[in-house]
Amino acid sequence: MANLKFYSGEQVPLEMHKVRMVQRLNLLPVEQRKKAMEEAGFNTFLLKNRDVFLDMLTDSGVNAMSENQYAAMMQADDSYAGSETFYRLEKALSDVFGMKYYLPAHQGRACENIISFAFVKPGKTVLTNYHFTTAKAMITLYGGVVEEIVKDEGLKITSSDLFKGDADLDKLEEAIKRLTAENIAFLRIESGTNLIGGQPVSMKNMKEVTDICRKYGIISVYDASLLADNLYFIKTRDPKYKDVSLEQISHEIAGYFDIMYFSARKLGCARGGGILTSNYDLYYKMRELVPLFEGFITYGGMSVREMEAMAVGIRETMDIDIISQTPIFVEALSNELQKKNVPVVTPPGGLGCHIDARSFCSHIPQEQYPAGALVSAIYIAGGVRLMERGTLSEQRKPDGSETFALMELGRMAVPKRVFTLSQLKYAADRVGWLYENRSLIGGLKFVEEPSVLRFFFGRLEALGGWPDKLVAKFRADFGDSL
Ligand code: F0G
Repeated sequence: MANLKFYSGEQVPLEMHKVRMVQRLNLLPVEQRKKAMEEAGFNTFLLKNRDVFLDMLTDSGVNAMSENQYAAMMQADDSYAGSETFYRLEKALSDVFGMKYYLPAHQGRACENIISFAFVKPGKTVLTNYHFTTAKAMITLYGGVVEEIVKDEGLKITSSDLFKGDADLDKLEEAIKRLTAENIAFLRIESGTNLIGGQPVSMKNMKEVTDICRKYGIISVYDASLLADNLYFIKTRDPKYKDVSLEQISHEIAGYFDIMYFSARKLGCARGGGILTSNYDLYYKMRELVPLFEGFITYGGMSVREMEAMAVGIRETMDIDIISQTPIFVEALSNELQKKNVPVVTPPGGLGCHIDARSFCSHIPQEQYPAGALVSAIYIAGGVRLMERGTLSEQRKPDGSETFALMELGRMAVPKRVFTLSQLKYAADRVGWLYENRSLIGGLKFVEEPSVLRFFFGRLEALGGWPDKLVAKFRADFGDSL
């Protein structure tokens, strides 16, 4: 696809698949969208999907599956122990990553639970290029502390750095010296780094970071949930890997780390997860936790049908035409938004397009959750559901004070093969309109705040009745349009 040119010179991301099953969508009038947002407590997680036009909340578990994945689901072997399905999946993973042992788990956070239970002890630190919400919640649940070592460039909204997810080697060395290796539970590298805009990690950095871990005897853990995008970026942004096959790149990454885990709701476009390692001692330490938390070792809490889909999906991740669709659509969406002056994270990453809420809503103080307010306003403006990735997604400090997020982002996820270009243009149009009317957006305040992962079911209210003003302006500008 990278080589495909249009005679017109236009740059259009072209799909290398066709759609053979569809889902009817519904777009409510703006007044009803406002009502739905109020009823959902200004939390996009609490919207009902029937009230959503374009669901850009996440790509998790909602990527479109291929015909071969659906076909494979029919041959699933339903047995509690020793299912043939497990061995097919284990073989697919070993072919793609070359790691010896596979521990199944029902999704990414279940892997994080097992790894944290096994290796985090109270007071120990996990060093990470950047945290992910569920990973941090599990680590802190077992008394650990998370410290981030992403390079400074990674936290800049706009940059020309092609691998903004890279860890800073000086920060890593300094942290090891300060904490000493025995107080570090493990090092965790996540790519493409979700909370800073789906930004990739370079192969060079993965090698250097894991070399340092080996030198100090620190366990290295790789979160491969967003690996598909990262493979695409390594191949297209690092000239050294232009002609290297995706299988070879995957093997090389896996070869650097002691443990690898993934959410197969993302990687492999199914619903499940798992942990991989070639180290028997590490495997042995985690293995007994699978039947305890998940299910027997040959299904790990997953449906065998999903496991079959996952086995095919993991193999399909080795096809550049399949994995390129999200990054090229994210780039197209970023370009559309930038044409309308909407501030977005650059370079475009994987997973979705990330809008900089701190700049978009510069009049809203961080304690009034600008990213939460922005995604609520975008839903009202267009029926498009985004996810807040800012202070709302953080957890309070032990003394109850806010942890202000380093980045306040509204994430427009681009689930794989789900939306068309016209739908993305519609979403960008409504966000562009909102940007011109951004002064109408106001802050949010919690009315119900859970203590753990509060963004999932916390409820908020809009300060100063701003949604009514937004609806009135929409009607004035769009007339009777939906
Ligand atoms: N790691 C990363 C990098 C993730 O993006 C996710 C999930 C997980 C782990 C946890 O996996 O959901 O299967 O338990 N990310 C989703 C998202 C929820 O929307 O970004 P899970």
